[in-house]
Amino acid sequence: MTTVEFRTPEALADAERWTAHNYHPLPVVVAEAEGAWVTDVDGVRYLDFLAGYSALNFGHRHPGLIAAAHAQLDRVTLTSRAFVHDQFGAFCRGLAELCGKDMVLPMNTGAEAVETAIKVARKWGYRVKGVADERAEIIVAADNFHGRTTTIVSFSTDPDARADFGPYTPGFVVVPYGDLAAVRDAITPNTVAVLMEPIQGEAGVLVPPAGFLAGVRELCTEHNVLMIADEIQSGLGRTGKTFAIDHEGVVPDMYVLGKALGGGIVPVSAVAADRAVLGVLRPGEHGSTFGGNPLACAVGTEVVRLLETGEFQERSARLGARLHAGLEALIGQGVIAVRGRGLWAGVDIDPALMTGREACERLAQRGVLAKDTHGSTIRLAPPLVVTEEDLDHALAQLAAVLRG
Ligand SMILES: Cc1ncc(COP(=O)(O)O)c(C=O)c1O
Repeated sequence: MTTVEFRTPEALADAERWTAHNYHPLPVVVAEAEGAWVTDVDGVRYLDFLAGYSALNFGHRHPGLIAAAHAQLDRVTLTSRAFVHDQFGAFCRGLAELCGKDMVLPMNTGAEAVETAIKVARKWGYRVKGVADERAEIIVAADNFHGRTTTIVSFSTDPDARADFGPYTPGFVVVPYGDLAAVRDAITPNTVAVLMEPIQGEAGVLVPPAGFLAGVRELCTEHNVLMIADEIQSGLGRTGKTFAIDHEGVVPDMYVLGKALGGGIVPVSAVAADRAVLGVLRPGEHGSTFGGNPLACAVGTEVVRLLETGEFQERSARLGARLHAGLEALIGQGVIAVRGRGLWAGVDIDPALMTGREACERLAQRGVLAKDTHGSTIRLAPPLVVTEEDLDHALAQLAAVLRG
């Protein structure tokens, strides 16, 4: 008789023993991936319905992105910004044009791009708007998620993200998400920006009331305040359009991008804005060793090229309609509510049945990976290369989990 040795338990034990416990992962140890599928160390296949929180919009190891990365690995990978390299200008131009903005500032992680937007907005406030020194205020939304730096958690309303990390950075005013009157009331002569996610991902894929984003745009224009859209999770095709804010026909003053911009290969983030805004920065005032490195730019250029085709936005809209129809059909059968746009959904599971975590554990046992948030909500965000069959399969597994 032969005994089969499973590698998962040891890999999980190593991870548990040797790393800080700042995450609570599902007990799955991924070894390989392609498209919408991952394979664990024991050869078990799973449909990836989280897609790196939208960092994998183009799927795992998209051939065009992998080819761009390979080609760049054979040429030059890092110069730092002390020199210019031959991938830099093309990437920045392509991304600026995709955003319809004059220029971009590339960084690495999403949080760094948010920090960049905050710094630029403050400097714009002092040097262009004429706000008195140290007085700049930025309006943000309750239940926001913009990253994990000390400044960003300073304006988080999630106790897990914030508690014990003070002293906090001042200069932020929190208003309820989707409440236009509250935004209006919060604006003062010192307000330099309104920073919001066009759809709140971490909060449970919350779509604001129709007209809210357009209303914020009007208020910002009226009061000479910058509108900053954090499209790190919602952007780059996820909702069926290039940016989630496009659904309301709104153009912010600054786009903050990350996640899928790196094609699931390297961390690439950026801020895109017009010269009147980003032009306030001078040499030495901001930067990052790895920001805009050749490998990042080569991959990012290919990401922009993929988005220019419109194929992924179209897939997300079309398959998203199928996903949402399938999820709506589960309302009353264990699902209480469904929100989202395109291939992005927040699904509230009946708490009497199970928690979101339990739902995700049971889904994983059935070969579908998803992530819970806030008690009974699960987030679904498959790669945009997912097929109709994959979608139907995942929906069938969710239905089976809910039947118990
Ligand atoms: C809307 C939003 N902003 C910012 C971030 C932070 O990005 P990163 O984890 O790359 O720092 C995230 C990450 O989930 C996000 O969803």
